Amino acid sequence: MVPSTTSLIALALASISPLVAASPAIVSRASSNSTKKLDFEFPLTPKIMLISLFAPEDVWTQSLGLTNNITLPGLSPLFPSIGCNDDASICHMTTGESEINAACSTSAMLLAKEFDFTSTYFLIGGIAGINPYMGTTGSVGFARYAVQVALGYEIDARQIPSNWTTGYWLFGSSQPGEPATTIYGTEVYELNTNLREKVMAYTNNVQLNDTEEAASYRQKYNYAPANQPPQIFKGDVATSDVYFAGNLLDEAFGNITSLWTNGTGKYALTAEEDNAIFEAMVRSHMAKQMDFSRVVLMRTASDFDRGYQNSDAVTAFQAEQGGFLPAIANIKIVYQPIIEGILKDWESTFSSGVSPQDQWLYNADIFHNLVQRKREVREFERSVKRSQVAKFRR
Ligand SMILES: *[C@@H]1O[C@H](CO)[C@@H](O)[C@H](O)[C@H]1NC(C)=O
Ligand SMILES: *[C@@H]1O[C@H](CO)[C@@H](O)[C@H](O)[C@H]1NC(C)=O
Ligand SMILES: *[C@@H]1O[C@H](CO)[C@@H](O)[C@H](O)[C@H]1NC(C)=O
Ligand SMILES: *[C@@H]1O[C@H](CO)[C@@H](O)[C@H](O)[C@H]1NC(C)=O
Ligand SMILES: *[C@@H]1O[C@H](CO)[C@@H](O)[C@H](O)[C@H]1NC(C)=O
Ligand SMILES: *[C@@H]1O[C@H](CO)[C@@H](O)[C@H](O)[C@H]1NC(C)=O
Repeated sequence: MVPSTTSLIALALASISPLVAASPAIVSRASSNSTKKLDFEFPLTPKIMLISLFAPEDVWTQSLGLTNNITLPGLSPLFPSIGCNDDASICHMTTGESEINAACSTSAMLLAKEFDFTSTYFLIGGIAGINPYMGTTGSVGFARYAVQVALGYEIDARQIPSNWTTGYWLFGSSQPGEPATTIYGTEVYELNTNLREKVMAYTNNVQLNDTEEAASYRQKYNYAPANQPPQIFKGDVATSDVYFAGNLLDEAFGNITSLWTNGTGKYALTAEEDNAIFEAMVRSHMAKQMDFSRVVLMRTASDFDRGYQNSDAVTAFQAEQGGFLPAIANIKIVYQPIIEGILKDWESTFSSGVSPQDQWLYNADIFHNLVQRKREVREFERSVKRSQVAKFRR
C-alpha cells in the first residue's frame, strides 16, 4: 500500500513550488452526487506520473484514489483528463492507442502549464506481445531501448526478391540487413539503465499473477522461457502501428532492433506507442520541462508474437492464449512496490535524480539532442561563472 495520506501531504508540501495564480484547467472530483471544485495550487509537482495506453491498463484510478481530474486541451477525446490523488503526488494519464494518439496526448500533458514535471518519474505500464525466446505470457519486461521497427520501406510479400529474407528494409538502404542512411530521429530511444536497476530491485519479492488458461496454452511451446512460468526480465520494445505477428516478421524486426542498437538491444516485446511517447519527452526535456533520465518503460506480455513450432501463423495469432488477464494484473503487481519505493526513498535517492549510465546522454535519442542540451548547460554554467568572476573583479 502507499504511505498514509498525511505523510504524502507532508512530502508533497515539502516539494511544492511557490504559489502560482489559479489555473484555467477544469479540476473536478468524482463524487456520488456532486462535482466538487478542488483548491489545488498550480503548478502541480507530481512525484510519479503513471502512463497507460488504453482503458484496461488503468489499474490505478480507483486503487490509488486518483480521482481528482484535471482536464486539459489536447489529450485524447477518450481520456480527456489526468487523474491525481488528493495531494497530487501521484497522477495518471491514458494516451490512447498507437503512435499518433500517444505522441499527441503525451505532448499535451507535458506542455500543460498546470504541471511542473521537472522532478517527476514517469512510469509507463502497458501490455504487449512477447518474443517466446525472451519470455512468456504474463512476463514483465523492463526496457532499455524502444525501436520504431516498421519505419522504413516495405514491399508486398508476393513481390519480394528471391534472395531477400523479408519485405522490410530501412530508409536510404538498398536491401534488408543494411543500416539506414536516412534518419527521421524517432527510430531508437535509450532509457536510464541505472534507474531500471533501482526500480527492479523493489520487485524482488513480487509474486506474479498467472492463470490456468495461460499456463496450459504455453505448454504448446517446446522450449523455455516460453513454456515456463512468467518472470520479470530485461528486454527491449519494438514499436509499430502495424500489429505484426508470425516468426518471419518477428525475426525481421528483431534484426532491425539489432541494427538500430549496434547489436546491444534484444527484441523482446511489441507495442504501438513507446517511441511516440519518447519523442514527446525528449522535446520536453530539451525545453527543460522534464528529465528524460526519469522514465521507466515496463511492458507485460498478453500474447505471443509468433506461434509454437510448426503452428499455422494466423491460427496461432488468433488463438485464445489466456495472457490478457495476467498481463493486466501484473502491471499493478509489479509497479505497486516501485511506486511505494520511489515515495519511501524520495529524499535519499529519487528527488535529486538517478545518474544515467556512461554514455547515456549520447544515445537517449538518435539525434543526440540531449548531448547538445548538456553542452548548452555547460556553456551556460561557464558564462555564469565568467560573469560572477567579472563582477568580483570590478
Ligand atoms: C475522471 O476521469 C475518470 C477517468 O477518465 C472518469 O472515469 C471519471 O468519470 C472522471 N470524473 C469526473 C468527475 O469527471
Ligand atoms: C451528497 O452530498 C452531500 C453534501 O456534500 C452529502 O452530505 C451526502 O452524503 C452526499 N450523498 C451521497 C449519496 O453521497
Ligand atoms: C540479391 O541478389 C542481388 C542480385 O544478384 C544482389 O545484388 C544482392 O546483393 C542480393 N541480396 C541479398 C540480400 O543477398
Ligand atoms: C490472477 O488474476 C486473475 C484475474 O485478475 C484473478 O482472478 C486471479 O485470482 C489471480 N490469481 C492469482 C494467483 O493471483
Ligand atoms: C535476420 O538476420 C539473420 C542474420 O543476418 C539472417 O540469417 C536472417 O535471415 C534474418 N531474418 C529475417 C527474417 O530477415
Ligand atoms: C550506434 O553507433 C552509432 C555510430 O557509432 C552511434 O551514432 C549510435 O549512437 C549508436 N547507437 C546506439 C543505440 O548505441
